[in-house]
Amino acid sequence: MTSRKARGGENASQATPYSRATEARELLAAAVRAADAAAIVIRDGARRLGTLDWEKKSHADFVSEVDRSAEAIIREVLLGQYSAAIVMGEELTPDAVADEGLVFIVDPLDGTTNFLHGYPEYAVSIAAVRSGEIAAGVVLNVPTGERFTALRGEGARRNGERIRVSKITDPSRALIGTGFPFRHPEVLPLWQAQFARVMLVTSGVRRAGAAALDLCDVACGRFEAFWELRLAPWDFAAGMLMIQEANGIVTGLDGRPVALDHGPIVAGNRAMHEWLLSNLQPDT
Ligand code: IPD
Ligand code: CA
Ligand code: CA
Repeated sequence: MTSRKARGGENASQATPYSRATEARELLAAAVRAADAAAIVIRDGARRLGTLDWEKKSHADFVSEVDRSAEAIIREVLLGQYSAAIVMGEELTPDAVADEGLVFIVDPLDGTTNFLHGYPEYAVSIAAVRSGEIAAGVVLNVPTGERFTALRGEGARRNGERIRVSKITDPSRALIGTGFPFRHPEVLPLWQAQFARVMLVTSGVRRAGAAALDLCDVACGRFEAFWELRLAPWDFAAGMLMIQEANGIVTGLDGRPVALDHGPIVAGNRAMHEWLLSNLQPDT
């Protein structure tokens, strides 16, 4: 990410806990409105898949005007209410930083490959970050309408109902999510070794192709744990808060807290996160 500075929220450091909580709720409401607006654009695109131009970003990585239009409407909604905020969005403004002020981290369409093929697993993901800390997040599963929301300190919800991570702690009963490192072939041998180790002793490994939804699947207990070797902040920011607020853990491959930057993500309920982390370490 570049050194562009986030603006807005000059009075944040003086905010009382009450006003911070109130602001977080307002930020979440704005993010939900923006996600709903993007979903309309995406659903419209889904009805005319055959007419969309696929533009190649890199190997196996396509994008269409739907991703950009969805991001444009998200910007319009968010900046309409928070004109001083910075939007870090995958397609239009990926180089913003999130270390001060108010920043929205936006993946307008997570699971673009799924979307382009009509495979119904894709989402809008928006996190609101105040002074470097994620305050609120929404992940909207566009085909199903399932909506995950989280507010720092106030829990995570699926369609308004509180969610918590799974209670399963036995690896042989665990279902683990992952993502393929298709943009980063240099880490493929490491991922293959990890996959073999995890797959042979768990009840299954899934790769559905939309990391924001994978993380929500951890938050609501469908997956006991998840890992991916390279994710961008827009892939995981909202989902990370979802898991933390659902009583789960998210770290890097080194077990440390994750910065809002590109890198590996390991997530799960406490026991399965610890188990997965130790099983992902390269052979020494
Ligand atoms: C991708 C999806 C995928 C993950 C990739 C992401 P995109 O996001 O989340 O599951 O494996 O790392 O880049 O490109 O569809 O927004
Ligand atoms: Ca993504
Ligand atoms: Ca995307």
